[in-house]
Amino acid sequence: MELTRLRGFRDLVGADARAMSLVEERARALVERYSMKEIRIPVLERTQLYLRSTGETSDIVEKQMYTFTDRDEGETVVALRPEGTPGVVRAYIEAGFDRTEPQQRLFYSGAMFRRERPQKGRYRQFYQFGVEVFGRPDAACDAEILIMIDELCRDLKVPFTMEINSIGDQKCRPAFRDALVQWGRTHWDELCDDCHNRIDRNPLRLLDCKIDAKLAASAPNSLDYLCDECRAHFDTVKELASAGGVEYVVNPRMVRGLDYYTRTAFEVMAGGLGAQSTVVAGGRYDGLVETMGGAAVAGIGFAIGVDRMALALQAAGVAPTAAPDAAIIAMGPAATRHAIAVARNLREANLNVEMLSPERKMKTLLARASKIGARFAVIIGDDELARGVVQVRDLKQSTQREVAVAEAARAIADARGE
Ligand code: HAM
Repeated sequence: MELTRLRGFRDLVGADARAMSLVEERARALVERYSMKEIRIPVLERTQLYLRSTGETSDIVEKQMYTFTDRDEGETVVALRPEGTPGVVRAYIEAGFDRTEPQQRLFYSGAMFRRERPQKGRYRQFYQFGVEVFGRPDAACDAEILIMIDELCRDLKVPFTMEINSIGDQKCRPAFRDALVQWGRTHWDELCDDCHNRIDRNPLRLLDCKIDAKLAASAPNSLDYLCDECRAHFDTVKELASAGGVEYVVNPRMVRGLDYYTRTAFEVMAGGLGAQSTVVAGGRYDGLVETMGGAAVAGIGFAIGVDRMALALQAAGVAPTAAPDAAIIAMGPAATRHAIAVARNLREANLNVEMLSPERKMKTLLARASKIGARFAVIIGDDELARGVVQVRDLKQSTQREVAVAEAARAIADARGE
């Protein structure tokens, strides 16, 4: 047996891992400005949880879950979480929030697992940063969610487009479903095999079919079927999102692949990603807490696909590099003792510094400094030690100047800012 990683599972090192962490760090800073509290939930849950929430007719539950029987738990069938929402709703109900403190604003971050066909931007282990807000049925909450996502994408400097839609509620959705079934039957021969299966089980998914655009344009449109309440809600969401500076496109054919959504649904697409371009997705799920055994409490949320957002950053050329600001080169044992202290000093001044292994030739060390991408080399020999100075060599511009030890941090920081 070869000890290689599994298909669809990735090792992320250096700049790739850094881009992911950057997305998570920015998202965390953002949600904390929106008064959100962190929640950490298990990676393993009862498979039943996902059947009841994500939905038995969703692709996730039908084909993509990593499920097994846990012998220690009385033969319980368990699954690696394919998404975060069901676990958060379960935890919310289990904590009794639905009865004691229904308004909760929660966020989470971590690995999810789906057995999908791997391709660029689609992995079997991937990471989501998610937000779930409970107890807020009002449209202002939807608008703030959209504003939050807009703020994040702008902060990350990723070019994006946001699509929104309303898919109605328990009251008006049945008519839309019926219309889709009717339409599907009329166009049976033009639909794919997947859609033939979906038509009765989950007709909304007909709109996800890879059918040709002309045919899709003839399909019923969810907005035509909204009841007065859902229409008014959607109108207010749009108005308030615009007031908050969000630019969105209404896409009346966007439905989401998970079963629990009601009313507002949205997706954000970023460039440079190929087929898997959706970097953020979510929507309202007003009936879900109740379906899962809790009180009738409204919910809305979204998840950022961290892997894809990181790829988008890299494609847009705005991903950070992991390269150090300076490499420290010490010539000889006395200089090394001094250099260790200089390195600490520079780090305390917030610079990223790598001390190169001493006892090598200057030429080799300079080559090493360039290889690790350091902008500067800080060179310390016995002569520099005796005079209390260091040589700061700009490796990009091939210039070098001598500065007092105490000035080194400033010299590097200033030059870096140019
Ligand atoms: P989702 O659309 O299934 O929604 O996933 C959200 C995002 O996770 C996707 O837009 C994508 O960026 C990322 N993602 C999904 N599958 C993969 C994969 N195989 N590889 C890489 N990235 C992936 C949800 O999961 C809902 N729980 C979102 C939500 C929260 N709705 C309400 N609250």
